[in-house]
Amino acid sequence: MTQYSKPSIVKIGNPLYLKHGASAQSYQFVRDSIEGVLISDLVEKFGSPLFVFSKTTLQKKYREAKAAIGAIYPNVTFGWSYKTNYLNAICQVFHNEGAIAEVVSGFEYEKARALGVAGKNIIFNGPYKSKKSLELAIAENAQIHVDHLDEISDIEEIAKSQNKKVKVGIRINFNAGIYPIWSRFGFNLESGQALVAVNRILRSEHLEIGGIHSHIGTFIIDANAYGRALEKMIKFMAEVENLAGYELDFLDLGGGFASKSNLKTSYQAPEINVPSIEDYAKAIAKPLQILAQRKNPPKLILELGRHLVDEAGFLITSVVAEKLLTDGRRSYVLDAGVNLLYTSTWYKFKIELESEVSGIAEPSILFGPLCMNIDVVDEAILLPRLKRFQRLILSPVGAYNVTQWMQFIQYRPAVVLIDENGAVKVIRRAENLDDINNMES
Ligand SMILES: Cc1ncc(COP(=O)(O)O)c(C=O)c1O
Repeated sequence: MTQYSKPSIVKIGNPLYLKHGASAQSYQFVRDSIEGVLISDLVEKFGSPLFVFSKTTLQKKYREAKAAIGAIYPNVTFGWSYKTNYLNAICQVFHNEGAIAEVVSGFEYEKARALGVAGKNIIFNGPYKSKKSLELAIAENAQIHVDHLDEISDIEEIAKSQNKKVKVGIRINFNAGIYPIWSRFGFNLESGQALVAVNRILRSEHLEIGGIHSHIGTFIIDANAYGRALEKMIKFMAEVENLAGYELDFLDLGGGFASKSNLKTSYQAPEINVPSIEDYAKAIAKPLQILAQRKNPPKLILELGRHLVDEAGFLITSVVAEKLLTDGRRSYVLDAGVNLLYTSTWYKFKIELESEVSGIAEPSILFGPLCMNIDVVDEAILLPRLKRFQRLILSPVGAYNVTQWMQFIQYRPAVVLIDENGAVKVIRRAENLDDINNMES
């Protein structure tokens, strides 16, 4: 049987580290504040559970990415991936930094417009764009990336009715050495589908091609996949230009750069296996040099989502009960579960305790508040015995959770943003019964 030693507490600035003597997983972390604001103050004011975002981290991540890619290819634009986190305040931080919007549905398109983003500064991606949303996007000169032939027909029809020539982007998929290949989005390159789509567009008097788009997947830790992707896209771009007889305006490499999150299937810690933004930049530097030599270098677009927002997000949650399971394992019921943490299916979050807890570290399970057996936040974590109401801080949780969360038997909690001066602002208040009932009759 594994022996777990009593943890000795090692203080390394903030967060503090609690070092346990046992296995590789036996490090526990302590954090009493986020961006200098005490967890206790946050919970007292806004309750538990609570999502907390750091504006400084959002800005830092964006600026680092812009600087790293911009240093090798200045003509680069970032399209903020709304689906990753479309809270208005979060989108606004990125728009203030200079990002345009990247949306994948009529709803997200409306959200970007309501935030004051002009149609021409919206990239409209996605496998299903309603006719109504396409009509609006075309009238407002948005940059539409076509996903399938039926959509090309829809756009052609709308362009005709609006007496316009519409310049579309074309989404392609291909083998960049990342498996499974996301072949369901856009047109496949190797099979010739992409060329069929190009010819279909070029035959239409109402359509033109503005550029090529791809998004090879998400949480791609092989940075070189982007170099391979870009090479294929540049080659295809030349083919398209040859057929079209004009130069394309842009190459959109999509998103997918990883965040410092711990993928459950990954053996190594994110500090080891997640490439830095400089690694990604280096991987695409060579093909970008080819583009830079052109008389009119096309615009490079990146739609980074999780890489920019994930590490800026924390979830504070509290222990509401302790239970000993029949197999002897200690478990805790938390006030936040998979209802708020959709990404817990794939990621093992870093879990920090608000205050130092001494005691033997023992294998524990963290359950959420739902009456569903699958509501497990962490199925195997070494923790000293926690008391009721002990607060835990989970991170990184900034990507996809506050868009994919569900309102199932619990209200969704407040979300706050800590700004660069340490001021805490509510950017989404907690839900209440009226919010739910107002939609019913
Ligand atoms: C077209 C497109 N662009 C960008 C993104 C953002 O991806 P990520 O968060 O992995 O950077 C996605 C996510 O699925 C996407 O589908």
